[in-house]
Order: sequence, then structure tokens, then C-alpha cells
Amino acid sequence: MKRRSRVRVAVIGAGAAGLCAARHVLSKPETFDPPVLFEMTNHLGGTWFYEERVGTYDNGYPIHSSMYRDLRTNLPKEIMMFPDFPFDDHLPSFLHHTSVQQYLEKYCEKYDIAHHIKFNTVVEKVKPISMATETGGAVTWEVISRSTCGEQNMQTFNSVFVCNGHYSDPHLPYIPGIEHFKGKVLHSHSYRHPEPFTNKSVVVLGAKASGVDISIELAQVNAQVILSHNTPTVSLPPPLGIRQASAVVGVLEDGSLQFQDGSVTRADILLFCTGYNFNFPFLSPSELALDIQDLLVAPLYKYLLPPSFPSIFFIGICKIICPFIHFDCQVKFALAVLEGLIKLPTQEEMEMEVHGEMQRKQDKGVQMKHLLNLDRDQWGYYLDLAKMGQFTPPLAVLESLYEEVRRQRQKDPQKYRLLNYRLIDATQWELLEAPSEQAD
Ligand SMILES: Cc1cc2nc3c(=O)[nH]c(=O)nc-3n(C[C@H](O)[C@H](O)[C@H](O)COP(=O)(O)OP(=O)(O)OC[C@H]3O[C@@H](n4cnc5c(N)ncnc54)[C@H](O)[C@@H]3O)c2cc1C
Ligand SMILES: *[C@@H]1O[C@H](CO)[C@@H](O)[C@H](O)[C@H]1NC(C)=O
Repeated sequence: MKRRSRVRVAVIGAGAAGLCAARHVLSKPETFDPPVLFEMTNHLGGTWFYEERVGTYDNGYPIHSSMYRDLRTNLPKEIMMFPDFPFDDHLPSFLHHTSVQQYLEKYCEKYDIAHHIKFNTVVEKVKPISMATETGGAVTWEVISRSTCGEQNMQTFNSVFVCNGHYSDPHLPYIPGIEHFKGKVLHSHSYRHPEPFTNKSVVVLGAKASGVDISIELAQVNAQVILSHNTPTVSLPPPLGIRQASAVVGVLEDGSLQFQDGSVTRADILLFCTGYNFNFPFLSPSELALDIQDLLVAPLYKYLLPPSFPSIFFIGICKIICPFIHFDCQVKFALAVLEGLIKLPTQEEMEMEVHGEMQRKQDKGVQMKHLLNLDRDQWGYYLDLAKMGQFTPPLAVLESLYEEVRRQRQKDPQKYRLLNYRLIDATQWELLEAPSEQAD
């Protein structure tokens, strides 16, 4: 066989997903050139790099991380870790965010990734260009980046891994009359710690992970918290005094908030824990035949690649997953595609599969904003990717522990983080006896 030149990969972002992409690209030097990682900040870690400031960096770009000071992970380290890189044994199962940042730094060291990262370099444009004669019809990607000192640079690649994260751009659902609200309006993206909320009345919108966690933090500094949401009642420890209400449907002219059940309240602060928008300012969606909305990117074959351009990969756009495991499977699948190990279906077949899948979900009543939620379906998805890509799928013990953690979290969304687990083998885990002391 004629020896082809090696594949050149660009990675946008040096968070967990980008580092994972780099680690696996570097593991196959016969096929791939060392990757180029573009990172707009001066550090790796993305979300896990705690940034006290809110608003913008000195260079005017919006602050990336939504991490808050006291966050502990909502997954135990046993199911958070990259499969080939465990967390330190001495750490408790549920980690403070600083331990995750340290973990990513060690990952970077072990796989010798750092010197492939171009820090302070923002990707401004990613554009497919066809160079039919040279590459036999394959697409080449033009990546235009700009360094903090203002220098623009253009490089070409055979493949692009989009790892820019999707927990940075606040999603703010419109509330009729919001202009009448006299208090402070805030999104969880700009929440860092509870002290400024002491003795204040706060309506928290949304009862997903951050809505629940932040409500608990606020209640502990004596804020009067109303958790407003449309989901079934969350079981919260009664001593915290957190009230729950239906969704806020509007703000009255006198500034009070009206809930769906008709009741009305006043509040000092309205805190949106309503999630984040997808944002790929460096892409032209129409050019890629993609529909990119606030809460949906489609069509993506295997939630990963646009059928019309199967050499650009969107890592980690699914929700309710074990992110690091998810990234690892997606990256291995993507590399198998680039290596030619996976023969993808035709463009039409991939489009049909994606549309069929979305249609099935919609027929089951899944709302558009939830189409990318995987949750229990993630394990079947990993198996599917692994089978096609010929790599080892995540162990069954991970799914089993994931389900256990869900049960514990539902029972007590505060205390579940005191538990410590240990993986015994491929199918079994155990609960360790001594509860962790650090979570209180
Ligand atoms: C508050 C919070 C709590 C979480 N808790 C957990 C948890 O307990 N367990 C868990 O597993 N996951 C958790 N997550 C999910 C978390 O987002 C993932 O674990 C993971 O960090 C996502 O990695 P990423 O690489 O996709 O994105 P990010 O970590 O966001 O990294 C993206 C990187 O891309 C860079 N970038 C963006 N745009 C550009 C550009 N144009 N050019 C160059 N660089 C760019 C950014 O600067 C950033 O460094 C949490 C998320 C949040 C927000
Ligand atoms: C909160 O209220 C308590 C009780 O009224 C008071 O002692 C305390 O000083 C208040 N704290 C702040 C920061 O307002």
C-alpha cells in the first residue's frame, strides 16, 4: 500500500475533551502528526480552572469557566475518570474542583501534551476547503487563529476536533415582564460563592444539578430560597428551609414574580440556573449543513460528526453523561474514522439515521431542548461506538455505580457526596465504610 502522509489534527480547546483528543492522537504517531491544540486562555482545564472573576478577562473575552468556589463533583471519581487514568487513591470519591484541575494537569504531563498547546490563541474561523487533486476529494480545514498580541495565523488540517466546551454562554429563557423586576438578575455562570446572598430572598430558576446545589449553598448562609421549576418535587433536607414553587411565568408591573400556579412573590435576586447555549462563533453552520440552535446541534451522526463533513468532530455535546468517559469513547471512534478503520455509511444514510433517531425521541414526547440528553442511554451508545471503532467499551461496573449514585442523589442531594466507593472488578463496586468528612 502506498504510504500516505500523516493526518494533521487541530483541536480547539484545552479542557478535558481537548486534552483527551490530544492524548489519543499522540498515541498513534504512525498515523497522526502531533496535534495542534488552540487554547484561548493562558491555562488548561477549561471549566475546571476556577476563575474568581466574572464578566470578562483583561483581553475582553468573556470569562469561560462557570465553576463556583465550593463545588464538589456530582459524580464520584470512580466514574468520572478517563478509563486509562485513575484519580489518586487517597482522594474521596466526590472531589473538590481543585482536585479535578490537578488531575487534568497530571494527565497532561503523563501524556506529554502541554507543548502541543498554543495558549492565548483563540480560533476565530474554521472553514472547509476542498483540494480535490491533492487529497482525492477529501476536505482540508482552514483554521484561522489570533494570539492575544493580535497576530493572526492560518493553518490547514485534515481534521478538526471541536472541544470548546458548552457551559459558558448563559441560556436565559425569556420571562414576560422581566423589565419590571427591581432586584438583581443573575445566571449561575456568574455565581461564585453564597456570602453576598446572606439574608436575601432568592428565587432560583431551574432544578438541575446547579440549581439544586446552589440553592443548598444559599440556604446555608441564611438566604430565603425558593427553587422554581417544572420538574417533580426535589427531595431536599427540610432543615434548610428551601421552598419549591412551579416555574416563574412572568413579572408583574410592581416587580413581583408570578409562578405558574398563580401565586406571587417578591425577591431580592432572581438566579437563572437554566443552562447554557451552544456557541461555535468560529463556524458557519450553513457551510457545514448544520442547524445550530441555543440548545441543539443537528444533524450529527453519533452525536459527533456532520454527515456532510465527516472529518470535523464535536466532542461532548451530549448532556447527562459521564463526561470524561464519553469524551474518551468519542475520540477513539473519531480516530478510527480517520484511520479508515470505520467505514462510515453514506451521507444520506447517516442523515436518515440521525433524523430517524430524533423523530423517535420526539414521538416519545422528548422536548427539543432534551434531545441531546443521554443519561441511561449513554451506555448503549458507548457500546455502539466501541463495537464500530473496535475498542474496549466502558466496564459494566460504571453503569451500575452511576445508577447507585443517581439513587443516592435523589434521596439526599446534599449528603450523597459523603459516600465513598471502590471499584472491585469489571462488574462490582463496594461502598466504603468511613464517610468522607470533607463534604460538610
Ligand atoms: C459548574 C459545573 C459543574 C460540573 N460538574 C461536573 C462533575 O461533577 N463531573 C463531571 O464529570 N463533569 C462536570 N461538569 C461538566 C464539565 O463541563 C466537563 O467535565 C468538562 O470539563 C467539559 O470539558 P470540555 O473540554 O468539553 O469543555 P471546557 O472544560 O469548557 O473546555 C473548553 C476549552 O476551550 C477553550 N476555548 C473555547 N473557545 C475557544 C476558541 N474559540 N479558541 C480556543 N480555545 C477555545 C476554553 O478556553 C476552554 O479551555 C460540570 C460543569 C460545570 C459548568
Ligand atoms: C443577617 O441577619 C442576621 C439576623 O437578623 C444578622 O445578625 C446578620 O448581621 C445579618 N447578616 C448580614 C450579612 O446581613
